[in-house]
Amino acid sequence: MKKIFLLGLTVGALALSFFASYSFSQDMSAEELAAVYENRSEFMKGMGGNMKAFSNFLKRGDGEPMELGSMAGDMAANAGQIPDLFPMNTGMAQNEESEAKANIWTEWDDFVQAAEDLAPFAASLEAAFESGDAGNIAAAVKKLGGEGCRGCHKKFREKKE
Ligand code: HEC
Repeated sequence: MKKIFLLGLTVGALALSFFASYSFSQDMSAEELAAVYENRSEFMKGMGGNMKAFSNFLKRGDGEPMELGSMAGDMAANAGQIPDLFPMNTGMAQNEESEAKANIWTEWDDFVQAAEDLAPFAASLEAAFESGDAGNIAAAVKKLGGEGCRGCHKKFREKKE
C-alpha cells in the first residue's frame, strides 16, 4: 500500500510540475498565441455586438427589450470569464495582432478587478430593460460602456489605428 501511495505522490508531483511549467511558459508557440487571441477576440467582439444592439435600441427602437435585457444578463454572467482569456504574456508584446498591454500581467489584480466591475453594470442594464424605462436604459448603457468597458480598455488596451 505504502509503495502505491508513494508512486501516486510521485506521479502527482510530476503532473503538477509539468502543468506548472506549461501554464507559466513564456514561450508559447505562434499557433497557441493565435488561438488564445482568436478566442479572446471572439468574446470581445460578441460584447461589442451587444453594445451595438443596445445603442440601436436607443437610437431607433430596434429589438425587443426583454431579449436585450437577457443579453445584458448574459454579459453579467460571463464577465468573470475575462481573466481566463488572458493567459500570462499573450499580449501585444508576443503577438502583433493583439492590443493587450503588458501591464495586464504586472497589474493582474487590477485587471481582474476591472473584469469583476463589469458584471454589476451589465446587471443594472438588464434590470433597466426589465423596467422598460427609456431613461434608465440610456443611463445604464452609458455606464456599462463608459465605466465597464472603457474602465478596462483605457488602462489595459492599446487600440491599433
Ligand atoms: C477587464 C478588461 C476588459 C473589459 C472589462 C472589457 N474589455 Fe474589451 N478588451 C480588453 C483587452 C485587453 C482587449 C485587447 C485584446 C487583444 O487585442 O488581445 C480588448 C479588446 C476588445 C475588442 C476588440 C476585439 C478585436 O479583436 O477586434 C472589442 C470589440 C472589445 N474589447 C469590446 C468590449 C466591450 C464592448 C466591453 C464591455 C461590454 C469590453 N470590451 C470589456 C479588455 C477588456
